[in-house]
Formats: sequence, C-alpha cells, structure tokens
Amino acid sequence: MKKIGVLTSGGDAPGMNAALRAVVRMGIHRGHRVFAFYNGFKGIVENESTEMYNRSVGDILTRGGTIIGTARYPEFVKPEIQKQAARNFKLLEMDGLIVIGGDGSFRGALELKKLGIAVLGIPGTIDNDINGTDSTIGFDTAVDTVLDNIKKLRDTASSHQRTIIIEVMGRTSGWIALKSGLAGGAEAIIVPEMPFDLEDLIHRLESGIARGKKHSLVVLAEGVMSATELSDKMKDAMGFTANTVVLGYVQRGGSPTASDIILASRMGARAVDEIASGMSGVMIGLLKGELVTTPFEEVIAEPKIIDPNLYHLAMALVH
Ligand code: F6P
Repeated sequence: MKKIGVLTSGGDAPGMNAALRAVVRMGIHRGHRVFAFYNGFKGIVENESTEMYNRSVGDILTRGGTIIGTARYPEFVKPEIQKQAARNFKLLEMDGLIVIGGDGSFRGALELKKLGIAVLGIPGTIDNDINGTDSTIGFDTAVDTVLDNIKKLRDTASSHQRTIIIEVMGRTSGWIALKSGLAGGAEAIIVPEMPFDLEDLIHRLESGIARGKKHSLVVLAEGVMSATELSDKMKDAMGFTANTVVLGYVQRGGSPTASDIILASRMGARAVDEIASGMSGVMIGLLKGELVTTPFEEVIAEPKIIDPNLYHLAMALVH
C-alpha cells in the first residue's frame, strides 16, 4: 500500500477532473491511499491537502475545471520554496506525487524529483504544446469550443459580408488555431510556427471576396499578435477593415469531449501503476494510440510544434 499525492497545476483544462477521478479510483482499487493537494504546488508548500475517497470524485467526470483548484505559482522557481515543498511532502510520508499540468508544472515536478521525491506527470493543458504525447488533456475540447464559435461567427460574417479575426489561445503554440481553423474552414490561419506576410493575407482574403465569398474568417494564434494589432496593421497597410473577436477563457471551460475524458482516464490510471512500481521523473503520454512514458527533461526541452502538413492541407482546401 502506497500513499500517493495528486495535484492539478497551471491553467485549468477540461478533463483534469476526469484524470483526478482516475488517479483516485485506480489508486484505491489497487489498495493505495490517495491525497489531493489544493491549488497546485502551493498546496504542498502551504500544507493544504485532503485524503480522497471514491465518493470524493463522484459526479466530476464530465465537469470542466478542476475541483481541487489550480494556480499559477511563479514563486515555485525559488529553490527555498521547492525545498519547503519537498520537506512538507516527506513529513506526510507520501510515496509519490502525480502532477497534472503543462510544461511549467513539469519543470516544478523535475525540481521535486531532484530533491528526492518520486514524481509522475500527466499532460493537462489546452495548448497541446507538450512533446511526448500526441494530445494533451483539454486540447480536443478547446478545439471543439473554438469550432463552435467559428460556426456562430460565420453566420454574422456571411450575413454582413465581413472579415472577422478570431484570436485563440495557445501561448507560443499554434495547435489550437491550426486544428480549429482546419475544422472550421477558416480562410486564413495564422500561427507562430509558419511565416506570416501581411500583403499575402490581404491578397488571399480579397481574392476570396472577388470569387464570391460572403465571409472571411481569420483564425489567429495569440502567440503571433493580438487580433487588434492585426486588424490595425491591415487597416494601415491597405485600408482593409476587419472585425475582431478574442475568445479568451471560454476555451478553457466547459464539459470535456469524450476523447478528452477517455484520454484523461487512461493516463490517470496508468500514472498510478507507474508510480506504485517505482517509476519517477517521467510524463505519461499517448503516442499512436499507446500509453508511453517520456522523461521530464525531454518533455520540457522544447515545445511541440504544429504539423506543417495539416497547415498546408487547411490552406489548400479553402477556395
Ligand atoms: O496554458 C493555457 C493558457 O490558457 C494559454 O493558452 C494562455 O496563453 C494562458 O494559459 C493564459 O494564462 P492565464 O491563465 O495566466 O491568464
């Protein structure tokens, strides 16, 4: 019987609750005790934790957000705070910690590992910018949310024959923009990973209008520039008018898709078995349908960049 800690950290993502449920229930099923730390690493530093039981995670499978809270916790880069966390964790006589979060969270997890704590990672972020997994928990849901909004915005764009720039999240990564833009048939997709040329963009939109298109939708990744910046540039350069919509936090909320729930359930259950067998310092990922582990060092070395083939496909199919 092991004592396993679990926390959610960084930006919340739909499916984090499903991962938490899987950790708790698989942990108990295997005969372990599971404890949740509140609000990410802060919960370890401030000694805020609680034992979890099967009923503690009842009715959360399809709920967005995270019932144990999360936090941006920049203080955790400080060695003295990390040492405090390691001390507290050891005093609780825990055998291992499961961290559900993004690359920043895995940097923190790696520091704890260096301080002698067994740590396992589960990728939970809408950004899908994590190496070692084809998809992160929450990404599929975020793409669906953006797609839903693209469809609504197209109604107005078509009715008024307007151009609308839709700014989406992703930090420095273009995954959300690429997949939602492809699925939504956007006239242009602008991502940090591909070159951007203002004149090309305007030419592309104008030629669409000349061919009889009633609307132009531009999906813009926040990592390139803001929607307002882009619309100002378009106006200044060629007098082209575009409306702007910033989707913001709606992309992080809502009920997870079936795909995210299943991904989270598989990863959560596997994380329990890995940590119980003594594995540490790795993230669980799903590559080509199989659960695999990748060392944190590799995961955080660089962000996972978009698949350029998908970008070229999207651009080739819009006419
Ligand atoms: O990492 C998830 C994310 O939503 C990014 O897409 C976005 O840039 C960032 O978090 C926003 O962070 P915050 O929650 O601190 O506003």
